[in-house]
This record gives sequence, C-alpha cells and structure tokens, in this order.
Amino acid sequence: MHHRLWVVINSILIVFSFIYIWFFRPHDSSLVVTAQFLAQIAMLLFLININMYFIFLVIRKSSVRQVKIRLAKFSRVMMKWHIPIAVTATTIIIGHAAINLYEVAPAVGFANLKLVSGYVAIILLFVTLAAGYLRHKKSSGFRRKFHLTTAMVFFLVFLIHMFIPI
Ligand code: HEM
Ligand code: HEM
Repeated sequence: MHHRLWVVINSILIVFSFIYIWFFRPHDSSLVVTAQFLAQIAMLLFLININMYFIFLVIRKSSVRQVKIRLAKFSRVMMKWHIPIAVTATTIIIGHAAINLYEVAPAVGFANLKLVSGYVAIILLFVTLAAGYLRHKKSSGFRRKFHLTTAMVFFLVFLIHMFIPI
C-alpha cells in the first residue's frame, strides 16, 4: 500500500513540475530558460535522494521477506550515489541561483517572494548537507532524525518555491 502511494507521489511531482516549468512559465531570455532547466534537473536529483526515506520505510515495514531483501540491495546501490547526487545537484542549483540573482532579481526585486523562498530553500539545503555529513561521520538517533527532518523541510520549501508565481 505504502509503495503504491510512493510511486504515485513521485510520478505526480515529475509530471507536474515538467508541465508547470515548460508550459506555464515561458521566458524570452535564454539565460532564464537555462536557469529553469538547471532547476528542473536539480529538482529531480533531490527527489532521488528524498526517496531514500521511502526505501528505508518500506524495508522496515514490509512483511514480505523478498521485498525486504530486494530493497535492501537496491538501497545499498542508491546510497553509493547519495553523496555524489547531493553534491552534483547542489552545484547545479548554485548555477540556477546565480542566473536568477543576475537576470531576474534586478527586474522583480530581491525581496520578491519567489526569490525569498529561493534563499530559504538554499539555506535549508546547506543545513541538510551538514546534517547528512554528520550522520555519515557518526550516526546516532539524533543525527538520523536531524538529517531526515532537514531533508523533509527542505523538500517542502523547494516545492513551495517552485510553485510560487513571480
Ligand atoms: C535548492 C534550492 C532551489 C530549488 C530546488 C529551486 C527550484 C526551482 C524550480 C524547479 C524553478 C522552476 C519553476 C518556475 O519556473 O517558476 C525555480 C524558479 C525560480 N527560482 Fe529557484 N530553486 C532553488 C533556489 C533558488 C534561489 C537561491 C533563488 C534566488 C537566488 C531562486 C530563484 C528562482 C527564480 C527567480 C525562479 C523563477 C524563474 C522563472 O520565472 O522561471 N531559486 N526554482
Ligand atoms: C540533497 C541533499 C540530501 C538529501 C535531500 C538527503 C536525504 C536523505 C534521506 C531522505 C535519507 C533517509 C533518511 C531516513 O530514512 O532515515 C537520507 C539518508 C542518509 N543520508 Fe542523506 N540527503 C542529502 C545529502 C546527504 C549528504 C551530503 C550526506 C553525507 C555527506 C548524506 C548522508 C546520508 C546518510 C549516511 C544516510 C543514511 C543511510 C543509511 O541509513 O544507510 N546525505 N538522506
């Protein structure tokens, strides 16, 4: 049951973000379109990392042994990529932020809600990275919860940021 909801949420996010960015937010400036492209890619990479939560959740909750074993193996492969994905997506989103600060912010104002939610999102991203680093160095109950909480708050804020109109 859980995993069906999980697949549905992922699909909706991917399809909606694609339609929203590429059909509802057209721009003349190719630089801003590049920023949108960078954001779309980074957003998908962040989504992959967020999915670790659901993978671990299904491993814990599933009563089907075969599902547990399969997902445990899959999670090990995914975790090999977890940090490279985080670093890559962060680099990409810095490019997104730089372009928007340079091209969009002077036109709409640096205090525009779209920009402000972007600042909050990137701050939460860095807190999530730091929390992930702590958990990676030495895991504890608190560090586990801390990384998970920051990741989920980050996820929520970047979704809000994404769908705020300018
Ligand atoms: C982790 C952080 C971030 C994520 C995941 C993210 C993601 C996105 C996505 C997916 C869009 C496309 C939606 C749209 O076109 O309206 C977008 C647009 C935008 N973002 Fe971000 N963003 C982040 C950080 C930032 C930061 C730090 C800034 C500002 C410095 C910013 C400024 C903007 C602006 C101005 C737009 C609208 C551009 C447009 O009209 O296409 N974002 N962001
Ligand atoms: C984009 C940034 C990141 C996001 C969105 C993210 C998200 C997540 C999520 C949702 C989990 C599952 C948590 C759980 O169910 O308890 C997780 C696990 C983990 N993350 Fe991250 N993470 C990010 C970056 C990092 C970084 C930079 C590191 C390390 C330097 C890291 C290290 C870990 C570790 C060690 C685990 C636990 C894996 C396990 O229990 O076997 N994460 N992450």
